[in-house]
Amino acid sequence: MTGDIGLFYGSTTCYTEMAAEKIRDAMGTNIAGTSRVDLFDIANQPIALANAYQQVILGIPTWDYGELEESWENIWEDIDQVNWRDKSVALYGLGDQLGYPDWFQDAMGYLAARITSLGARCVGQWPTTGYRFTGSQGLTKDGDYFVGLALDDENDFELSDARILRWCRQVSDEFEM
Ligand SMILES: Cc1cc2nc3c(=O)[nH]c(=O)nc-3n(C[C@H](O)[C@H](O)[C@H](O)COP(=O)(O)O)c2cc1C
Repeated sequence: MTGDIGLFYGSTTCYTEMAAEKIRDAMGTNIAGTSRVDLFDIANQPIALANAYQQVILGIPTWDYGELEESWENIWEDIDQVNWRDKSVALYGLGDQLGYPDWFQDAMGYLAARITSLGARCVGQWPTTGYRFTGSQGLTKDGDYFVGLALDDENDFELSDARILRWCRQVSDEFEM
């Protein structure tokens, strides 16, 4: 038996993993119409397991001046083993807007572009209001939104829990549309 939502994340220093656990808890307990969320660390579990879900959440931090995090880089070619055409997908990213202001959340943008090109329906866009950065590949075309939830535990740690809760409510509505 699988749960309602499969959450796949890569994480080098555990922040994206911690956010995955918070998202699982928020989806499971804190919102109306709760969903079970199954967590998968892509460093040791194949992304093809996403084929068992119609609703998927992907978590990706940006590393090394706008690069993919290592475990995502390692499985990048495997992403097309998933049939994204029948899926709704919400993305979240970890980044550091003050340390890397020209590359904030770039990897989330690259992942969104990759799965969109493979037919995924992306949900969970997040306003850029309140963030301080100068450049990002993680934005929608109009530039007013991130392609998913932008978390920054380096500079905005105290905002992360509230952002996660609000985004989970939004995503659970958008998954149903
Ligand atoms: C060497 C290094 C390079 C980084 N490069 C970027 C970057 O280009 N853009 C960005 O938004 N964040 C960058 N970050 C911040 C990370 O995304 C942030 O620390 C994140 O929480 C790491 O997630 P993880 O612990 O799940 O690997 C960088 C961090 C380090 C240590």
